[in-house]
Parts: sequence; structure tokens; C-alpha cells
Amino acid sequence: MQDPFRIICDDSLERRWIWISLLMTVVMAGILGLFAVANNLHPPSNVETIDSSRLHLTEEFAEDNLGVKENDDGSLTVTMVAARYGFFPPVIEVPTDTTVKFRIASADVLHGVHVPGTNAATMIVPGYISQVTTAFPTAGKYSFLCNEYCGLGHDSMWSRLIVVPKSEGGK
Ligand code: CUA
Repeated sequence: MQDPFRIICDDSLERRWIWISLLMTVVMAGILGLFAVANNLHPPSNVETIDSSRLHLTEEFAEDNLGVKENDDGSLTVTMVAARYGFFPPVIEVPTDTTVKFRIASADVLHGVHVPGTNAATMIVPGYISQVTTAFPTAGKYSFLCNEYCGLGHDSMWSRLIVVPKSEGGK
């Protein structure tokens, strides 16, 4: 079969490199796809807007209403505010193997959140409510890290997620 790149390139060595670079692209895209499936990653699908400058006046994101709440079906909803430079409340405790829905809004600029070792990660875009639903199979102390550069204090923007064994009645 004739090399289809012959139309744009006469040099066989150059054509070989075109193929190699294409192959690398396919391999890398394949690795991304594989990891996305293997780690159960999915793109954010919840679109809900909110006025970031008035978070404290909303019912859901008022200071008194932040934190972990149990739903009727036994799952948990964690309501949080991301603001320079921290997540509020700063310590969250949830049990293992329980569906946890995080609802996070930014009070100022673009933030992100990533919990290393889990599939919990999302951007927190001002004006939108970020929602991530997950469960934590392994008990332990996790860091809740900001992963979008948000200013000078970005490096120290993190809080604590404590996952306790379900049998110990953690909530
Ligand atoms: Cu918030 Cu970086």
C-alpha cells in the first residue's frame, strides 16, 4: 500500500516521523481513555448557577448550613464554600462506603478541588455550583487540595477530609 502522506511529503524519513507522532498521539489518548474508565472518572455534568457575591445570603451556602448533612436515603450531602484561601468548613468527616455528594461554590475566584488517592476532583467556577458524587472505600485522612491557581495563598489552600470506618458510626 502506498503511504497516504506521500501527497504532502516526499521525504521517507520525514513521513516515518509523521507516523511516529501520530502513533504517539493515539497511544497517549488511549492511555487517558483507559485511566478514565479504570478510575471511574467522568466530566462534570451538573449545571447550576449561583450569585457568588451573595453566597452568605443564600439558604444553602449560608455559614450555618455548611458541612455534612444526612439525606433520607442514608447518603450524605456536603455543602462547602471555597474562598481565598481555604475550604469551609475546614474539616469534613464522612464514613466509608457511603455515597457522598459534594456541593461546592466559590465566593470569589476560580478554585479547584482534588482529593489525592480518590476520584474526587472538580473545578469550582465562580457563579456555578460544583457537584461531585463519590464514595470513599478506604478510611484515612485525606487532603482536600485546591488545584487551580487562585492567588498568592493558593499553595496553602487545603483542608482535611477524614474518612472513618462506617462501623464506628462516623458521619
Ligand atoms: Cu484556591 Cu488555588
